[in-house]
Amino acid sequence: MKPIIFDVDTGIDDALAMAYALHSPELEVLGFTTCFGNVAVEDATRNTLTVLEKLDRHIPVFSGANQTLNRGEKKKYPKHVHGEDGLGNTRKEVPSLQASQGNAVDFIIDQVKSRPHEITVIAVGPLTNIALAIKKDPKIMSFVKEVIIMGGAVRVPGNVTPFAEANILSDPDAAELLFSSGLPVTLVGLDVTLQTCLPKSKLGEWRASGKESAQFLAEMTDYYMKAYDSSHPGLGGCALHDPLAVGVAIDSSFVSTVQMNVKVVTEGEETGRTIGQPDRESNIRVCTQVDAERFVKHFLERVIRS
Ligand code: BDR
Ligand code: CA
Repeated sequence: MKPIIFDVDTGIDDALAMAYALHSPELEVLGFTTCFGNVAVEDATRNTLTVLEKLDRHIPVFSGANQTLNRGEKKKYPKHVHGEDGLGNTRKEVPSLQASQGNAVDFIIDQVKSRPHEITVIAVGPLTNIALAIKKDPKIMSFVKEVIIMGGAVRVPGNVTPFAEANILSDPDAAELLFSSGLPVTLVGLDVTLQTCLPKSKLGEWRASGKESAQFLAEMTDYYMKAYDSSHPGLGGCALHDPLAVGVAIDSSFVSTVQMNVKVVTEGEETGRTIGQPDRESNIRVCTQVDAERFVKHFLERVIRS
């Protein structure tokens, strides 16, 4: 089993990625750390606890960054994509699970310290928590086995601006700090995630399964699909951004990668852009191709517990 710290800004596709990871025997999720991004950090933490409660799993959740490294709080959250609550307006009650004491950055550092060269961090929100951990303890963080990131758009346009993908744009300075840190990174960006599609028809199957957790995931994903209907008419479903990062952690043969030196634009209208140049010396592997059919099949076999 691969020990994982899962950094999330939960978020509908984060919730799908959580279910996929928690139903995958190859991964041992040691804890979730939360960040602002799709919603404010308080909501990301509450949503993460809500999803865990629905999936009947008790795993530690540590709240993390509520603002960017250098630019203060995020000004606007994408409610048209993830809903007012971040879960497609499905969150009805306050979860009875509680967040753990302590903060995300210390949890990451402590775990890496106790298991040097073993821990993979999957990060599917802004990279603020990881950047803060590197700033606080660069030596310990050099013992991270790998950071698998859903973020960036190297050879394709962005999804928030023509240049920038949402997670990188939410904290470009954090991304730049991480990419220049020398940590081994796999970048699962829009180059590959936009080639994946969860078809609408699957939601009917989830609802018909009679399982409460499947109905919860179907209801929130329905909201996400409506956003995709306007932004990607004709797709017939939604992209599986965050789940693909989990897929790569389980089986890296879902993707092909190219080693690149990646720089993040931090000023001007191209802010948040990830510029990649092939470089065999680089520790960053950028995903350039995906076997989308095999990955989506694998995700569907796992996301709803049989
Ligand atoms: C990423 O941005 C967020 O909206 C999603 O949860 C995903 O992590 C896609 O660009
Ligand atoms: Ca996310």
